[in-house]
Amino acid sequence: MTQKEVELKIGKPLDRVDGRLKVTGAARYAAEWKLENLAYGVAIQSTIPTGRVTTISVDRARQVSGVIDVFSYKNKPGTVSDEEDAREDAERLFLFQDNEIHYAGQIIALVVADNLTAARHAAKLVNIEYERESFQTDLSANLKHAKKPEDAEDHKRGDFKKAFLSAPVKVSQTYTTPMETHNPLEPFGVTAAWDGDELTLYDSTQGVYSTKQTVAKILKLAKEEVRVLSPFVGGGFGSKLTVWAHVPLAAMAARHLKRPVKLVLARNQMYGPVGCRPATVQTVSLAAENDGRLIAIKHEGISETSKFKDYIETVADGAFSIYPSEHALATHRIVPLDIGEATWMRAPGHATGSYALECAMDELAHELKMDPVEFRLKNWANKDYASDLPWSSNSLRECYRVAAEKFGWQNRNMQPGSKRDGSRLVGHGMATAFHSVWRNPASAKAIMHNDGTVVVQSATHDIGTGTYTALTLVAAEKLDLPAASIKVELGDSNLPYAPVSGGSTTMGSVGTAVAAVCESLLSNLISLAINDSKSPLHKKHADDVVARRGALCLKTDESVRETFEAIVRRTSTGQIEASVDSKPGDEEEKFAMSTFGAHFVEVSVDADLGKVRVERWVGAFDAGRIVNPKTARSQILGGVTFGIGMALLEHTLIDHNIGRIVNADIAEYHIPSHADVHDIDVIFLEPVDPHVNKLGIKGIGELGITGAAAAVANAVFNATGKRVRELPITLDKLL
Ligand code: MOS
Repeated sequence: MTQKEVELKIGKPLDRVDGRLKVTGAARYAAEWKLENLAYGVAIQSTIPTGRVTTISVDRARQVSGVIDVFSYKNKPGTVSDEEDAREDAERLFLFQDNEIHYAGQIIALVVADNLTAARHAAKLVNIEYERESFQTDLSANLKHAKKPEDAEDHKRGDFKKAFLSAPVKVSQTYTTPMETHNPLEPFGVTAAWDGDELTLYDSTQGVYSTKQTVAKILKLAKEEVRVLSPFVGGGFGSKLTVWAHVPLAAMAARHLKRPVKLVLARNQMYGPVGCRPATVQTVSLAAENDGRLIAIKHEGISETSKFKDYIETVADGAFSIYPSEHALATHRIVPLDIGEATWMRAPGHATGSYALECAMDELAHELKMDPVEFRLKNWANKDYASDLPWSSNSLRECYRVAAEKFGWQNRNMQPGSKRDGSRLVGHGMATAFHSVWRNPASAKAIMHNDGTVVVQSATHDIGTGTYTALTLVAAEKLDLPAASIKVELGDSNLPYAPVSGGSTTMGSVGTAVAAVCESLLSNLISLAINDSKSPLHKKHADDVVARRGALCLKTDESVRETFEAIVRRTSTGQIEASVDSKPGDEEEKFAMSTFGAHFVEVSVDADLGKVRVERWVGAFDAGRIVNPKTARSQILGGVTFGIGMALLEHTLIDHNIGRIVNADIAEYHIPSHADVHDIDVIFLEPVDPHVNKLGIKGIGELGITGAAAAVANAVFNATGKRVRELPITLDKLL
């Protein structure tokens, strides 16, 4: 049976509907729009972290054949709004307003040429002289400058200090995570094209609407004058939630030159100007009774941030929420440094925070001489301890049990460093995964054409996650149509509003809107049929009519039917439409909502060389209802792979003598390759969650990476007896 013939609904695995477009190269990414008279930009970045440009010599660059212009603070191509609502963005982006330098990698000039080769060559010929200033780029050397961010509250419950002091069993340790760089496969690129006062941006973004709004503000345009197109995105991981400098700069240059400008940042140009995951220093203190019951939890997070935008890596929120303890304290502090902007990356706060928390949980289990799974089962929270609200659903205990069983956890060695396989030490570790569930307002429109096909529209994104396919499944279920009859349109700011694709919210927010709009479309269709004397369904009750395979029919007698096609054909417009605006209700006030999971990992460590290999992985996850098991599994595989990267490889290295990132490419910035990733067994528990949204979807994009690095670190401890509290776990830390 082909996919078309299978009855499609939520929960049935569906191949990516855009898969063919992608593998044939027909899917158009941001740098692939062929516009007439296109000019090519190349960014020039600061090589020093602080100070100012004193001289910028562009004469040699201008002489290169094909070069159109070289822009910098000396000849800014157009104006940037200084109005209140634009100032914050304009000032953090450094759009050539002045010659000041705020971090290494800041874009300080832009070469534009007829072709890319000329632009690249010319960029090398621009000579820049600087006046340097002192700088600080090292978090560990600047912890004394940690400050409380303006909008961060310390969370307190009970009396942590007193409870911790008198507790019988306790651990208190400091864990660090390094700066990381998102490195999406598709680089950051934009093509800016003007038609009079109207700007079109062909961008790679997780937010077509937010990009439109931000760029309109910065360039003093009306929102209707900006259109952002981003139908395919080759990964973002949080870095494409924000508008970065190259986007308005390309638009400014294009307007000035009266021709479209394409500006793509090369891989080595992405380290600095498009965000990073900030380094953290986290202290976790846990105390328990002798029987393993947690009494006191403290999580103190310190993270670095740029000096021009406060970003808080909210590492401590999980500890305050997902384990029961009468006494708890969670705090966040930031250290502003002379680095590029810190931003959201792959489960921000959760991924980094769960590393420290779940390692500390492992350390305490070890102190208690308790099995780490038993310890966690004993400390399962029957409510959210942060808000004191009941969970909308929580299958965490089942996640532990099911994954432990599948993994064979009962055979684990409790004694660290005691299991060998030839020259390799073998270890098993586990950790809890959890991620907050949010929902945002989202709108959608559905149009049924007179051939019975349906177009579903929303200005959301497919950032590689499978949105096209998952939304197709939602519409297919509601309208009982095959995938081939449904076309999902997204990635265009002219479509009905959708929020940024971040925080694992797309399916809960936009999926819910699409379900509602399809229901509304169907009810329009039904009412047309039952009110039309030409229809076999004339005068039937709306409640008695259902959609079956491209037709409406009576629930009780499917032979009384009329095809969608026939009904739409009789309309004057030849189509039927429906639109909805959907938004969360009061469920957030009544319930705490979270996804959960449990990772189980086997590692082997070369006893002589300290090289860690992840051999085997079993994870069970509660993300509510799974829309497409196929792409949902891929989401977890991606998350776990990133977790392996976080645990063992990823580290944006700054040479603090010069304040520059020194591993700015993926030869030196290590991410897991195929040889680093072996069996990953993904199990979904699908609790019915009637509260989270109508479809019961909790969201899955970021869950897989949470807890993953801790599971690896805990397995490394079990293998070697060495507790590495400083990511990544490179071999030098094990020898
Ligand atoms: Mo995610 S870091 O919210 O794209």
